[in-house]
Amino acid sequence: MASWVVFASGTGTNFRALIEVLSPLGKRPLALVSDVPACSAVTYAKDNKIPVLLMNYQGITRMQAENKLLDQLERFGNVQLVVLAGFMRVLSPYFLNSFPGTIINIHPSLLPRHPGRNGLADSLGSQDEELGITIHYVDEGVDTGKIIVQESFVRDAQEPFDSLEAKIHAIEHRLYPQVVLGLLNRFDTSEALN
Ligand code: GRF
Repeated sequence: MASWVVFASGTGTNFRALIEVLSPLGKRPLALVSDVPACSAVTYAKDNKIPVLLMNYQGITRMQAENKLLDQLERFGNVQLVVLAGFMRVLSPYFLNSFPGTIINIHPSLLPRHPGRNGLADSLGSQDEELGITIHYVDEGVDTGKIIVQESFVRDAQEPFDSLEAKIHAIEHRLYPQVVLGLLNRFDTSEALN
């Protein structure tokens, strides 16, 4: 069965949505990777008996931190898919080239508009008539990888930011599990064919 891990640094609502939809289908991640030991995503993983791998960037270079993680991931065997879900670190080109599997990310704007860590605030604060989300492959740039899927909606100019934000997260929570499921099924099918 296809193997995957999730990376998260914060609230972890997307991580939670992934587990809630995919776990009943028998698709659980091998681990949660986080750089923030006290974040809600880590608590949720522990509560749900999902192993947690903590990345510690303190006092070492990014490459050293990533190498430690690559070693840990290798011990899990062949990890085919990394799902970034609010992971607030940029993975280096070294990591991207060293990890043999696929890496995907979710972003709360219609890329290429509003990339980066303030994407949601930038998107809400813009004059854009359409808002939405993007799920994409990860490449060496920040939120520049090939787009897998986007979903948008027309914004009502009167609608407050918190309501727009809730709409954006609701789309994320619905779409991300579907995309991950599709990729896992694809890996399973190609394994079966080999
Ligand atoms: C999401 O909006 C996602 O698009 C972005 O970071 C946020 C993470 O939220 N990459 P959560 O931690 O999943 O609640």
